[in-house]
Amino acid sequence: MNWLLGGGFTGSVLSFLYPVLRFVNPPAVPEASVNEVNAGKVAELKPNSAKMVKFGARPALLIRVNETEWRAFSAICTHLNCTVQFHEAKHQIWCACHNGLYDLNGQVVSGPPPKPLEEFAVHIRGEEIVIARRA
Ligand code: FES
Repeated sequence: MNWLLGGGFTGSVLSFLYPVLRFVNPPAVPEASVNEVNAGKVAELKPNSAKMVKFGARPALLIRVNETEWRAFSAICTHLNCTVQFHEAKHQIWCACHNGLYDLNGQVVSGPPPKPLEEFAVHIRGEEIVIARRA
């Protein structure tokens, strides 16, 4: 009888502990690797404007510099991971969190960001815009 009750108690404790341990130490799930996304149509963006695009699970910033020039970057600031935005008046990329500034090549102009933004390649395929990870 003691053996039966002890086994039941142990089983109950383990059934409570197992989900807690899985929550505290989840199995490693690799982030789906995205190498290329469709970013919309050329006509949707006027020169000197930008839009956010989902690049996998992360945001990307697509900028139409002028009629023919395009740029795309990871929209995650290299300082503390805030989302950056295009500053139309300054023609620069701005992080509002700590006033970080990047130029249109993704290089740091001023503020605390320690390194450039990750740049993506922009391919214009007919009317479609495709952003791709650089090899
Ligand atoms: S998080 Fe962008 S400047 Fe600090």
